[in-house]
Amino acid sequence: MTNYVTSEVIRTLREKKKYTQKQLADILSVSDKTISKWETGKGLPDITLIEPLAKALNVSVAELLSGEYMINRNKAANMLKCNFYVCPVCGNVISSTGEGAFSCCGITLPPLEAESADGGDEASLQHRMDINEIEDEYYVTLDHPMEKEHYISFFVYATFDRIQTVKLYPEQDPGFRVQRGGRGTIYAYCNKHGFFKQKI
Ligand SMILES: [Fe+2]
Repeated sequence: MTNYVTSEVIRTLREKKKYTQKQLADILSVSDKTISKWETGKGLPDITLIEPLAKALNVSVAELLSGEYMINRNKAANMLKCNFYVCPVCGNVISSTGEGAFSCCGITLPPLEAESADGGDEASLQHRMDINEIEDEYYVTLDHPMEKEHYISFFVYATFDRIQTVKLYPEQDPGFRVQRGGRGTIYAYCNKHGFFKQKI
């Protein structure tokens, strides 16, 4: 994932808008040489120009920064392919059905990469979830500390058409109950060891 606008994105969007470098330069009150530099990777637009640049190119700031508009703006969302982001400062959890640029507390967040909790290594074993079906619910628990320095801060239950996120805090029990839906994936995020997933 790219966290800042790239030369290809600027050039492609400018051409799509049928602007010359000079026309785009005039809108932004910069020189056409500046635009040329951005498009050839010899410089990057200052952060203060990102919003006017996005406006001029008719995309959102998130699209400009991620280049996501080029892939497919209208793809059907499959929640099993959702990306998750967690802020290391405040613990905010963000989920997205596509790629994007997300930030919290002034930090650009990378998408979390989930490790399989079925993997044989020690960290996987420590985060292996016990998933029981009780009537129409899943009851998910794991044997894990819930102390301020080391705890499970959220769970996610993702199926094809929905995601449910449950936030946890230290001292709570490490588990959750959720209405049973279709097949999917349960994720658990440990503030110390990262993101783990287990298929159900
Ligand atoms: Fe852990």
